[in-house]
Amino acid sequence: METEDLERFELNLREGPIPRHIGIIMDGNGRWAEARGLPRLAGHREGSNSVREVTRTARRIGVRALTLYAFSSQNWFRPPNEVAGLMDLLREYLERERAEILDNGIRLNAIGGLNRLPALVRRPLDELRAASAGNREMVLTLALSYGGREELLHAAAALARQSKDGAVKPSLSDFEALLWTHDLPAVDLIIRTSGEHRISNFLLWQIAYAELIFVETPWPEFRRRSFLECIRSYQQRERRFGLTSAQLRQA
Ligand code: FPP
Repeated sequence: METEDLERFELNLREGPIPRHIGIIMDGNGRWAEARGLPRLAGHREGSNSVREVTRTARRIGVRALTLYAFSSQNWFRPPNEVAGLMDLLREYLERERAEILDNGIRLNAIGGLNRLPALVRRPLDELRAASAGNREMVLTLALSYGGREELLHAAAALARQSKDGAVKPSLSDFEALLWTHDLPAVDLIIRTSGEHRISNFLLWQIAYAELIFVETPWPEFRRRSFLECIRSYQQRERRFGLTSAQLRQA
C-alpha cells in the first residue's frame, strides 16, 4: 500500500470504534531471524523497531493503553545468551525511546516479576516510569518477567490476607483492584503475531471479553499497515458481552 493510501486507511479507521486497550503477544522474532540465517537476537532487534512503529501508530489513532508481552516468566529458561541479549535490548530501547515517550505524553508502565530484572534494565525502567508518571495520552505497559497465572496467584494471596477471618465476600471489582493491571482499562483486543493460536499465559483474567486476532505476520514485519489491518478486523466484529444482537440494537 502506498504511503498516501495508508494515510487514508488510517484516517478512515479513526471514524470507527478504536479499542481502548490492546495487548500484543509479539511472537516470531526467532523464526524470522533463523529463516534469514541470522542470530535470534537479530530478530528481537528488528522486533524492537516494530515496537516503536506500533506504539506510534497506536498513540496517533487514540488507543488509550497498549500492553506488550516483552518477556514472559518462562523466557528466563531460554539460553543465557538470549536472555542477556534481550535484557540489553530492553535497556537500549528504554534509553533510545525515552524522548519519544516523554514528548508524546505516553506513560510508561511495567507489570510482572520486576524484582527479577537485572539492574541494567530496572534502573532505566524505574527512571522512565517516574519521569512519565504524569503523562495521560496513552499508557504503554511492558509485561516483563510476566505470567498471567503468577499475577492471579499474587492477587489471590493479597485477597487471602485481606479476608483472614473469611468475612470478606469479594466482588469482581475487588479482585480486579488487586491485579497488576488495576489502573488500566479493560482489554478490548489481543493480537498475536506469527501464526500460533495460543495465549501463552498472557493477561489470563483480562482477556475474558477481549477480541482475539491471530495473524501470520512475524513480529519483526508487523508494522503500521499490519496493525491498522487488525484495527479494521476489530471494527468488523460485534461485541456482545453475553447479550444477544437484538438486545444490543435496542441498547
Ligand atoms: C517472542 O519471539 C518474542 C520475545 C520472547 C521477546 C519480545 C521482545 C521484543 C520484541 C524486543 C524487545 C522488546 C521491547 C519492548 C523493546 P520468539 O523468540 O519466541 O520467536 P519464535 O517463536 O520465532 O522463536
